[in-house]
Amino acid sequence: MSLMSKNTLFATLVIVFIVALPSCTNTVLPGTNELDYELKEAIKASADFANGTPDINFYILPDENDLENIIQDPNNPLNPAKVELGKFLFYDTGIAVDAIYESGVGTYSCASCHVPEAGFRPGTHQGIADGGVGFGVNGENRLKSQDYDEDELDTQDARALSLLNVAFVKNTFWNGQFGANDANVGTEHLWSEEKGTHVNHENLFAMEAQNIEGVDSHRFNIDKEMADEFGYTALFDEAFPEIDESERYNKRTLALALSAYLRTLYSNKAPFQEWLKGDYDAMSYDEKQGALLFFGKANCSTCHYNQNLGSNEFHALGVKDMYQTPSHSSSATDFRNFGRGGFTERDEDMFRFKVPQVYNMKDSPFYFHGSSVRSLENLVEYFNDGVKENDNVPVESLSSKFKPLNLTVIEKQNLVQFLEYSLRDPDLQRYAPTEVGSGQCFPNADYQSQVDLGCF
Ligand code: HEC
Ligand code: HEC
Repeated sequence: MSLMSKNTLFATLVIVFIVALPSCTNTVLPGTNELDYELKEAIKASADFANGTPDINFYILPDENDLENIIQDPNNPLNPAKVELGKFLFYDTGIAVDAIYESGVGTYSCASCHVPEAGFRPGTHQGIADGGVGFGVNGENRLKSQDYDEDELDTQDARALSLLNVAFVKNTFWNGQFGANDANVGTEHLWSEEKGTHVNHENLFAMEAQNIEGVDSHRFNIDKEMADEFGYTALFDEAFPEIDESERYNKRTLALALSAYLRTLYSNKAPFQEWLKGDYDAMSYDEKQGALLFFGKANCSTCHYNQNLGSNEFHALGVKDMYQTPSHSSSATDFRNFGRGGFTERDEDMFRFKVPQVYNMKDSPFYFHGSSVRSLENLVEYFNDGVKENDNVPVESLSSKFKPLNLTVIEKQNLVQFLEYSLRDPDLQRYAPTEVGSGQCFPNADYQSQVDLGCF
């Protein structure tokens, strides 16, 4: 080839390239590679399904300090003092005063079962508050105290749900039994003392309703004297100026402050969040492929589609219950095993569980309501196989959206990468206080926990 024709060829290529470029920019935005573009389209479709608008900003979680833009119950308006107060009380073992035995008093907190380092889930397969001893490094070594009988422990027949992004949860609990609205409209006749749902009659949002119940069932209390002693009185006054002083320092305001704090917990520093905000280097190539599967071929977002990547739908996946793995005080007949059906008593709701949020899953390797799956690899395998593991659940009850996926080995790995890294906020410690008003060890303060947590 002569020099001349080489130049001609080059010129032709340049022209072809320039001509081709505008048609390219129509589909691919500058600075965004094809994979980012494809992922945006998939996320837009998911946002459209969830919210009726194809806008990826739908999945951007709020800033925890931007109280005005956080979902809140009009009966419990957020203010900075209330959030601050809740942040102390959630961890303060000083309010653990209604323990069954003297040895349990002052030893546990909400964070015994919702450990920030464990993604606000227990660090073990089953949380123990009153009647538990020890912590370990991540909450993994909390064991039963010798002083307590099995049925005296504060444990439940389901793994504690994560409290990250919980402001987006419309009806709390795996069975969604709390809250007067959303899925619970029409269930009024079922709200009872026995299951703790009578509080729904107060027309509060699910979070506030549940925590009023939870403060009681998890054996906490506070009064004016304790508030004074722990130095919380000024915060209570600032948090609840509209409530008469005679009603300002009690279990109810304790529950309201805890709810305010929980409404500010967001995994908004996760790489996927940075990516959504335009930092396209925040996720690796493999993680983006995993995200594309989550919002596409792997069908995850057909159920996990709300802002928290959970939803208020209830589905049966046929996973095992807490009593089927060695656990404390659990039984085959507990209402929690039946999911939504355990609350509504309707046949079609049997074994259906709420679709949970999926951020910071790596922080505690116990998945599903019975903690039956112990790694994200196995979890993805479970969804890929689409086969139930619990003999009690009839095949006909399984969700029609739960079916084999035929993912390749690489695809499964990429999906795990997306869950492990892109959806993990690496700084949840920012939500925990450095000390609490009582001055006690937290989140637990029994002798072994004090050793484990370095409180001496
Ligand atoms: C003994 C362990 C334990 C303690 C202590 C505990 N929780 Fe929980 N928490 C659970 C379990 C288990 C669930 C799920 C129960 C279910 O769905 O059946 C849960 C669920 C929740 C939920 C609902 C989340 C959702 O997405 O539906 C909220 C809110 C909550 N807890 C707040 C608190 C607060 C506030 C405290 C302290 C007052 C607290 N928890 C103390 C075990 C615990
Ligand atoms: C049919 C609806 C549905 C689909 C599709 C679905 N999920 Fe889920 N997911 C659920 C429900 C319901 C649970 C809770 C089940 C239980 O514990 O009984 C859950 C639980 C999880 C959990 C464990 C959360 C926890 O706190 O234990 C993770 C992680 C998860 N899903 C990720 C995924 C991924 C990844 C995909 C896609 C491969 C997917 N899900 C597809 C409904 C679904």
